[in-house]
Amino acid sequence: SAGKEGYPHFMLKEIHEQPRALRETWAGLDMDYVSKLGKAIAEARRVFITASGTSYHAGLILDYLLVSLAGLDAHAFNSSEYRKYIKLVKEGDILIAISQSGETIDTLMATRVFRERGAKVLAVSNVVDSTIPRESDYQLYTNAGPEIGVAATKTFTTQLMILTALAANAALHSGGMGKEAYSLVLNELEQAPDLVNTTIINVEARVRHIAGKLAVKTNAYYLSRGIGLPIAMEGALKMKEVAYVHAEAYPAGESKHGPIALVNQEFPVVFTVTDDDYLDPLEGNVMEMTARGAYTIGILPSRHYAKLGKVFTEVIQTPDASPYLLTIIQSIPLQLLAYHTAVLRGYDPDKPRNLAKTVTVE
Ligand code: AGP
Repeated sequence: SAGKEGYPHFMLKEIHEQPRALRETWAGLDMDYVSKLGKAIAEARRVFITASGTSYHAGLILDYLLVSLAGLDAHAFNSSEYRKYIKLVKEGDILIAISQSGETIDTLMATRVFRERGAKVLAVSNVVDSTIPRESDYQLYTNAGPEIGVAATKTFTTQLMILTALAANAALHSGGMGKEAYSLVLNELEQAPDLVNTTIINVEARVRHIAGKLAVKTNAYYLSRGIGLPIAMEGALKMKEVAYVHAEAYPAGESKHGPIALVNQEFPVVFTVTDDDYLDPLEGNVMEMTARGAYTIGILPSRHYAKLGKVFTEVIQTPDASPYLLTIIQSIPLQLLAYHTAVLRGYDPDKPRNLAKTVTVE
């Protein structure tokens, strides 16, 4: 149809639209406002982050950065589990509610309850004046344009862009990060559209080849360490929702505590490699999978190729960047992997069974 602009599916069109979506999100970001919010976050008694599905994975990235970079007391939770926190919330707290649609009922309920208890709420959404932003104290918008595919793609990477800028700013205010390091993060984020464009061009053929292997599988693991973990979780969610392959993500270090029991000959295990600090233990985890005959796929930036290029069955190499930007870059091959696997299995990735674009019932 005309709306697909020549692409066979909206999901593929929206994956390819990400350079533009990121550029427009960056252009639309008011850094003075981000700075005001960064200060509010740094000064908050406690920072809560809530969201569902893909937006929750973006929330986990924010949580990771606020804790590890800004040294703040931040905690992300699935919106549907908000009741656990009711007694904990007080005036002086801030809740960051992330919802691309701005209408997800669980996230809206969490927003209402937190506000009633005196917390300030910052909404991060892709839809101006949707319900959650309207009921919040502060609003930040991604500029991804309308997303038709049920699977979130461009709204996710643009969320990551905004939330990384916000976390870096909070870190600047909390003293977790100096001015120079802060400028480096911002400069990198500005390069995201170009690097994502390069990634799409460079990885698609390789991803299609790997999708051919995954198309006949029923299970897969997605493993990582550090900031790469929520990206692995998002990759697994995409694979489940559009290709109906049972994909499970967990910290690579947890392998030996149970999940590895399932791994046998040709079991697919996808690794996202982001943090330099975790290379050695991560390599150990890959070897453990290899020893059981697993089909391992490593998504790694070019600088890690010398060390890890040979340990995986398959490698998807991405451009080099700091972990802050690799979250965005590594989402691309994972989205494409889910898309191509779905198509090869004969499914329509735009219309996954049992799913609605926006969930308005609890
Ligand atoms: C993403 O691919 C899913 N369709 C789903 O998990 C979605 O992210 C979730 O329902 C949250 O939606 P929201 O961002 O509009 O609140």
